[in-house]
Amino acid sequence: MTAAPSLASRAMANDIGDAHWLPFTAMRQFRSNPMMFLAAEGMHYTSADGRRILDGMAGLWCVNAGHGQPRIVEAIREAAGRLDFVSSFKMTHPATFELAGRLAGIAPEGFGRVFFTNSGSEAVDSALKIARGYHRARGDAGRTKFIGRAKGYHGMGFGGLSVGGIGRHKRDFGPLLPDVAHLSLPYDRASMGFSRGQPDAGAHYADELESLLQINDPATVAAVIVEPVIGSGGVYPPPKEYLERLRSICSRHGILLIFDEVITGFGRLGTAFAAQALRVTPDLITCAKGMTNGAVPMGGVLIRDFIFDAFMAGPPEAIELFHGYTYSGHPLACAAGLAALDVYEELRLFERTAVIATTWQEALHSLRDEPHIADIRNIGLLGVVELAARKGEPGARGASCAQSCYDNGVLVRASGDLIVLSPPLIIDEEQIAQIVDSIRSAVRQMN
Ligand SMILES: Cc1ncc(COP(=O)(O)O)c(C=O)c1O
Repeated sequence: MTAAPSLASRAMANDIGDAHWLPFTAMRQFRSNPMMFLAAEGMHYTSADGRRILDGMAGLWCVNAGHGQPRIVEAIREAAGRLDFVSSFKMTHPATFELAGRLAGIAPEGFGRVFFTNSGSEAVDSALKIARGYHRARGDAGRTKFIGRAKGYHGMGFGGLSVGGIGRHKRDFGPLLPDVAHLSLPYDRASMGFSRGQPDAGAHYADELESLLQINDPATVAAVIVEPVIGSGGVYPPPKEYLERLRSICSRHGILLIFDEVITGFGRLGTAFAAQALRVTPDLITCAKGMTNGAVPMGGVLIRDFIFDAFMAGPPEAIELFHGYTYSGHPLACAAGLAALDVYEELRLFERTAVIATTWQEALHSLRDEPHIADIRNIGLLGVVELAARKGEPGARGASCAQSCYDNGVLVRASGDLIVLSPPLIIDEEQIAQIVDSIRSAVRQMN
């Protein structure tokens, strides 16, 4: 149970000082109208002005089982009191092996090893390094290039930023990793707009990989990295057969395929990982967010056995991977991760998601004929309502829609003119209707 916010904490929220520089935030605008939350439980936040706000984003794509799950809260408490910290460099504690084993158990067949990080960004950079290290361990050190994709989001480390495909994120920070190429976005509004789930058209976009490999000698490419469903870049489900084709091209050329499942992992598509729902098996899977239900920062790389085995060929006393983070496998994160997996299982949350995703799809697409709607895309419990930009004011409609929803007690995320949705997987039909109705009423009032 979440404690009700005290009067003192509410008063504090009104006098917050100005020391904190928030990520991805227009700071001066934020100061004039700070959005603050004091507590959360289940599907709702409590805002600083005492309102219950329905969470349409699972925090930031992470609180899959809803907020304040008592079992997770208790596990963190217990771990903090018992073992506050132990390094994972040359030592560890039992929960790291237990959690890794549980993750391997729900991963696609053959992913027998897990490397722990503290975030999705670190998971991505770790996966890129493991990919290069794998080739080198096999005597193929010339394979160093990476291929990402337009609109891909792989976190904010220099590696993830380099393979990412959102130009604005990179503009101020170059130069990035050399030798990175990008596939284009597999999307064409005319043939794929308003698709329900995976678009029927668009598999041919995967053939671009062959073209890129004609320019970038395939024998120099270490890995292709994609989100199975593009998330932060705008929720683009993969066209049918697209990922299958990427998979077979990578296999043909000895290139590793990395699925970045930081958003899609832990049930979002109705299976533990999107790889299972979409029936395509990559070589490395990055994950984070739902790994602990968002309760403690944690990420990881799930690794296929043949990759791990390649690292194990040297002398047994030699360190195989010169890489890691102080907090890799932190006791609080492991406790939260184990409890989160228990909760997901107990609630049969992934199976439930597969069922309620149909209601979600129909509700979202009921907005199709409302004003300013340019496209609607969905898969699992992910969705986006794309608004047509107002002439000369890109992003204005998105911001206005998100504000209006918030005023009506619903938290959605505006990314330019996209209204991005990713509710906790415990959402019910009434709450789905509340999200969709708040968007409906916002776009009806908007010019
Ligand atoms: C697909 C994907 N990869 C990586 C990241 C980065 O994760 P983090 O913010 O935990 O570093 C994100 C974050 O949203 C993501 O969506």
